[in-house]
Amino acid sequence: MVVVENLSKTFKKEEKEKGLRGSLKSLFSPNIKEVKAVDGINFSVEEGQILGFIGPNGAGKSTAIKMMTGILTPSAGRCIINGYIPYKNRRQYVKEIGVVFGQRTQLWWDLPLCETFEVLKEIYEIEESVYKRNIEMFNEIFQLEEIFYKPVRTLSLGQRMRADIAAAMIHNPKVLFLDEPTIGLDVVMKDNVRNAVKKINQNLGTTVVLTTHDMSDIELLADKIVMIDHGKMIFEGDTLELKEIYGDGTLEEIVKKIYCRGNQ
Ligand SMILES: Nc1ncnc2c1ncn2[C@@H]1O[C@H](COP(=O)(O)OP(=O)(O)OP(=O)(O)O)[C@@H](O)[C@H]1O
Ligand SMILES: [Mg+2]
Repeated sequence: MVVVENLSKTFKKEEKEKGLRGSLKSLFSPNIKEVKAVDGINFSVEEGQILGFIGPNGAGKSTAIKMMTGILTPSAGRCIINGYIPYKNRRQYVKEIGVVFGQRTQLWWDLPLCETFEVLKEIYEIEESVYKRNIEMFNEIFQLEEIFYKPVRTLSLGQRMRADIAAAMIHNPKVLFLDEPTIGLDVVMKDNVRNAVKKINQNLGTTVVLTTHDMSDIELLADKIVMIDHGKMIFEGDTLELKEIYGDGTLEEIVKKIYCRGNQ
C-alpha cells in the first residue's frame, strides 16, 4: 500500500548572470532561486495495483519516485509505503522495494549478469530456494538465458532493461518502481517488457508505480492514473474517468491536449 500525502520537494538553484562580472557577482552574492519540483501531491495505490504516473518532461515524476524510494528527503509532506517512511528506515525499506530508472542502469557494468544476481542474493540475504525459483521464473519471463553470462556493458538496451527489471525483482519486493522502463525500446521489446511487468503483477501480486511517456504502456498496464504538471497533481483516476472529464479521443490525444494547456 502506497500513501503519498502533501509530498513536496524544493530544489535550490543558483542563477548565474552572464560574463565575468556575473560570475564575480554570483561568487559574493549568489542569486538563489527555488524550484518547486514536486508541489503538494496526494494519492494512494492499493496493494496489487499498477499506477501509471504520468506528466510532461520536467513535471516532477522522477523527483517524486526518488522520494518514494528514499533516495531524496521530502521538503514537506510524506509518503508511507508498506508502513515505512522511505528515507528514515532505508536499510529495512530497500528489502521491500525494487527500483528501475530506465535512463540509468543499476547493474554492475563489468560483471556478467549471473554474478550481479549472486551479489544481490548476498546483499538481500535471499534464501537459496527462493533465489533458484526466481532465477528460473525470470529466465522464462525475461528470456535471460541468452544474456546470463555476458558482461552488462555488452548488452543491448532491450536486453539491459530486461536484466534491470529482473535484478530489481530478485528479492521478491512488494512494490516495484519503474521510471521509464520502455524508454528507447523497439515495439517488440516494449511488448516484452510490458508482458513481463503484467506477469510479475499478476503472478506475485506486486504493486507497481510506473512512469512513462508512452501512452500504450498506460493503456495496457495501468489500473489507475496519476497525472502531474509543474509539480502539482492535476488528475487521479482511471482511463475511463480521464476520458469522461477531458472528452473523446485516444489516451495519447487527450494527454497531449492536457499537456499543451499546461504550457499556455
Ligand atoms: N537535483 C536537482 N537539482 C535541481 N533541480 C532539479 C534536480 N532534479 C530535478 N530538478 C528539477 O526538478 C524538476 C522536475 O524534474 P524531474 O526529473 O522530477 O521531472 P520528470 O517529470 O521526471 O521529467 P522527465 O519526464 O523529463 O523525466 C525539473 O525542473 C528539474 O530541472
Ligand atoms: Mg524523469
